[in-house]
Amino acid sequence: MKLMPAPGIGIARIPLIGLGTWDLRGRTCVRMAEQALRLGYRHVDTAEMYDNEREVGEGLRAAGIKRDDVFISTKVWPSHFAARDLERSAKESLARLRLAEVDLLLLHWPNPQIPLKETLAALCKVKRMGLARNIGISNFTVPLIEQAVKLADEPLVCNQIEMHPFLDQSKVIAACRAHDIAVIAYSPIARGDVKNHAVLARIGKIHGKTAAQVSLRFLVQQGIAVIPRTSRVERLSENLAIFDFELSQAEMAEIASLASSGGRIVDYAYSGSPKWD
Ligand SMILES: NC(=O)c1ccc[n+]([C@@H]2O[C@H](COP(=O)([O-])OP(=O)(O)OC[C@H]3O[C@@H](n4cnc5c(N)ncnc54)[C@H](OP(=O)(O)O)[C@@H]3O)[C@@H](O)[C@H]2O)c1
Repeated sequence: MKLMPAPGIGIARIPLIGLGTWDLRGRTCVRMAEQALRLGYRHVDTAEMYDNEREVGEGLRAAGIKRDDVFISTKVWPSHFAARDLERSAKESLARLRLAEVDLLLLHWPNPQIPLKETLAALCKVKRMGLARNIGISNFTVPLIEQAVKLADEPLVCNQIEMHPFLDQSKVIAACRAHDIAVIAYSPIARGDVKNHAVLARIGKIHGKTAAQVSLRFLVQQGIAVIPRTSRVERLSENLAIFDFELSQAEMAEIASLASSGGRIVDYAYSGSPKWD
């Protein structure tokens, strides 16, 4: 059974599946990162805001994977988007992860209070300093993607956005594709809401798969990377086993028809408050 596709997507070769870690803390986070890597995951997604970069780094070392064989992403929180703050934030993330560089450094959410020009110049500088192999954005809308592409003098390799069968993100995806920006889907199983969905469960049954696996397959089959989060070891294998079946065109269309503009789960705009996502 072929579990891991190679190579990854886009110019940064982002692995098609990674472990999301929002809300994983302490020993659970260390254990899940370690187990995921032992099972074959090659991407772990964290953020300075998740307060678990130390544990992700510990899990990486415990798994004993060669540094070059794993892709580690982290994110700068918008309160640190001023130039000096961004550089310090990146260095502090690396210190917590105990890494010399991350594979991907993202702007976590747009921050309308700080000029995008300043933030992108700082992000590009951090890349040139060798602190991040690749840089990108997260939660950027179509107009913001267009602005960011014009302002950045290094490639923006991805936009990490909420994506699952219940949310229509076709306009953002089209804008990303027009600029060679890979899409990473967060909340790819709609925070567990796909689990008992009748259509996804019925399609899953045809393939001997669960509704969660159908949701993930639906995304990766479109060339979108996914970062499902779980705190249960048995679900790590379930979420990884999505490369040994294919959804038909009719099934893809039926799943796509479940999407609506009101399907968003993470409804949040950074307003300078310390609230996390
Ligand atoms: N850039 C951003 O602004 C942003 C925002 C949100 C998330 N993210 C990233 O994306 C990652 C994933 O998104 P998410 O955590 O919001 O949601 P998600 O991965 O769609 O869903 C996680 C939830 O689904 C459950 N689950 C996991 N595997 C399952 C399975 N096979 N069957 C049924 N339920 C399952 C988990 O419960 P158990 O733990 O009990 O398995 C958990 O409650 C985050 O962890 C984070 O790294 C980024």
